[in-house]
Amino acid sequence: MSEIVIKKYPKLLHGGDYNPDQWLDCPEILEEDIRLMKKAGVNAVSLGIFAWAALEPEEGVYAFDWLEKMIDRLYSEGIYTVLATPTGAMPNWLTEKYEEVRQVTPEGVRHLPGKRHNYCPTSPIMREKTKAIDTALSKRFGRHPAVILWHISNEIGGNDHQSACWCPKCQAAFRQWLREKYGTLENLNHAWWTAFWSHTYTSWEQIHAPSPAGEPWLHGLNLDWRRFTTVQMRDFYREEVKAVRTYSTVPVTANMMGFFKDLDYPKFADDIDIISWDAYPEWHSEADDVNIAVWAAANHNIMRSMKKAPFLMMESTPSVTNWKKNNIQKRPGMHEVSSMQAIALGSLSVQYFQWRKSRGSMEKFHGAVVGHIDHGNTRVFKEVAALGEHLASVSDAVYHTCNKPEVAMIFDWENWWALEDCAGPKRGSEMHYVETFLSHYKPFWMMGIDVDMVDMDADLDGYKLIIAPMNYMYKDGYARKVREFVQKGGIYVTTYWSGLVDETDLCFIDQAPLQDVLGLWVEETDSPNEFYENEFEYDGQRYPAKDICDIVRTTGAQKLASYCGDYYEGRAALTKNSFGDGTAYYIASGSSEEFCIDFYTELIRKYEIHQAIPTELPYGVTVSKREAAAPGAKTLYFVQNFNPYEVTVMLDHPYHCLETDEMLGEFLEMKGYSCTVLY
Ligand code: GLA
Ligand code: ZN
Repeated sequence: MSEIVIKKYPKLLHGGDYNPDQWLDCPEILEEDIRLMKKAGVNAVSLGIFAWAALEPEEGVYAFDWLEKMIDRLYSEGIYTVLATPTGAMPNWLTEKYEEVRQVTPEGVRHLPGKRHNYCPTSPIMREKTKAIDTALSKRFGRHPAVILWHISNEIGGNDHQSACWCPKCQAAFRQWLREKYGTLENLNHAWWTAFWSHTYTSWEQIHAPSPAGEPWLHGLNLDWRRFTTVQMRDFYREEVKAVRTYSTVPVTANMMGFFKDLDYPKFADDIDIISWDAYPEWHSEADDVNIAVWAAANHNIMRSMKKAPFLMMESTPSVTNWKKNNIQKRPGMHEVSSMQAIALGSLSVQYFQWRKSRGSMEKFHGAVVGHIDHGNTRVFKEVAALGEHLASVSDAVYHTCNKPEVAMIFDWENWWALEDCAGPKRGSEMHYVETFLSHYKPFWMMGIDVDMVDMDADLDGYKLIIAPMNYMYKDGYARKVREFVQKGGIYVTTYWSGLVDETDLCFIDQAPLQDVLGLWVEETDSPNEFYENEFEYDGQRYPAKDICDIVRTTGAQKLASYCGDYYEGRAALTKNSFGDGTAYYIASGSSEEFCIDFYTELIRKYEIHQAIPTELPYGVTVSKREAAAPGAKTLYFVQNFNPYEVTVMLDHPYHCLETDEMLGEFLEMKGYSCTVLY
C-alpha cells in the first residue's frame, strides 16, 4: 500500500501558483480571487514562490504579516497552502550587496543582478541568507494547520541551464569532490584517460570545470562535472529542507521539469517526500496529439517511478504558455483530457501556473485561470471549474490507488549525458536519446500498457519485461543486475549502441559485459546516410535500417531479422538469446515507428503482457490502470481520448463509470478530448 504523504489533506489537489504579493495594494482583487477559487473548485494554492522581496524587503527585516493574512483567509474558505521557500528568485538588495551569490558563466563572467533560478549553490552567503529566511518561515508557518506541503525553491536548476556556476568557490568545491571520489590524481588521470592529448593532471589546482573557453572535450571531466552539479544543487536543496524542518514536520517537495537534462532527478528522490513536476506538453503542435500525449505520459511515468508512488503535477497551463516558439491555445476539452492523463498516471493533483495573470512583465500573457478581463466568465475558467468538479467527484476513489506496471524502461541521466557527449557514429546532439526512448514506449501507450521508467540504479525485481534503448553506459553493477534478471526468467530488450562504456566513460575492452546474456558482440557500428539506404527483413516484412546500424557477431543468439543490403547483407539486425530461464533481445538497427509497433506487439502477445483493458483501442486512445492500494479501494481504469472527435471503445466486459456509478455496456462512447474513469 502506498503511504499517504499529505496527511493533513488527503484529497486530489486543484489550484496552483498564486502570487498575491503582486496585488497587495488591491485588497478587492484578493477577495475576488477567493470568490473565484471557490467557484473553480480550488482547494490548494502555492504561495511565496518568488516572494523574497516582499517577505524580506530589507536584509534581516521580515514582513510576513501579509502572508499570514493570506494563509488564514484562504484557510477560512477551505483552501490549503503549499508554502514555498523564496529562493527561486533573489531580491536586489541581496544580489547588489553580495556579488558572490550571483552565478558565473562557463566563460568566467559574473552575472549581473536579475533573472531567477540563478544563485550560486556554493556561496556561503547565499546559504546563510537562505537558511535565515527558511527558518523564519518554518517558525512562523511550519505548524499552521493550512500548510500541507513545503515547496522548496522553484524548478531547481532553472530552465535556462542555470544548474551550475563556474565561480572560484564552485571550482574549489568541485576539486574537493573529485579528491574525495578518486583519492589520488593517478586514479583520476586513469578514469579520465588524460594521457590523451597530454592532459595529465599533476596537481588538483590544474582542474577546471568544462568550458568552451577551456576544456570542453574531456568526456570523463564533463561527466563528473554534471554529477557534481547534481550533488551541489542537491546539497543546497538539503540545506533548505533542513531549515524548513526546524519547526515543522510538514512533507517537502521540489517541482521538477521532467526531461530536464541538467539534473539527475532520481538522485533527489530520497530527499523528497512526494515528487512533483511542472508539465508543459506542446499540445496541438503536430497534426494530431498522439506524440505529445506519449511525451507527457513518459514524463509522468518517470516522476511516478522515482518513488514508485503517486506524485503531484505542480504546474500546468490551463490554456496557453508564452515561451514557446508558437503558443497555441488548448482546444476545448484538451484541458480535461490532459489533466486527467496526469491523474491516470499517478498524479494526486492538477495545479496550474498560474491562478491570475500578472499585469506586467514577462508572464503577463501566460495562460492563467483568471485573465485580465471578465474573470469568471471565460471559456478557460469554465473548463477549469468543470475539471474541479470532476476531480472532487473522483478524489476519494483515486487517492488509494497507484499504477503497478509489469514493464519497465531504463531511462538514465548519466547515460543521457555520456551518450550525447560521446562523439561516435553521430555528433552527440544527433544521438536523440529521448526521441529513441519515446519511440520504444509509444507502442505500449497505444496498447494501453503502463510502464515504469527507472534509472540503472533501480531494483529490477518484479518486472516481467525490461527495455533499455541506447543503453550506452553500464553503471557499476548494472550488467550483473540484468544478468540475474534474465537468469531468473525476465525478458530483456536492448538496442544498438548499448553497453560500450563503464561508469567513467571508459570503453569496455576484451569482452562486452552482457555478451553471454545477449549471445553476441558488436563488430562495427554504421551510421548510414540517404545515399546508403538499407532495410532488414523481419517476420516476412521489410523495414528501414537507418540512423545507427550495429553489425554484430552472434555467439549463440538466434537471428530474427537480417539486413537486406550493403556489405552487411545477411547479418543479424535483430536477435534473441535464451539465457537461464529468460530471454534477451538485441535490436541492432534503428528503424521506423512501424517496426517498433510490430515488434513490441508480438512481444506483448508472446509473453502475455497485460493491457489495462484487453481490447483493440482506437487510434489516439489509451488506458491507464491505477490499482487498488488499500483495503476497500477499487482498481480504476482511465480511458483517455486524445482525438478531437468522438470514438467508441469496445470493452472486454461491462464496467461501471466512476463518475456516475452507472453500469455501462461493452461499448464506451467518448467525446473528443475526454477521459472516462471505469471500475
Ligand atoms: C515554469 C515556472 C513558472 C512559470 C512557468 C511558465 O514552470 O516554474 O514560474 O514561469 O514556467 O510556463
Ligand atoms: Zn558558484
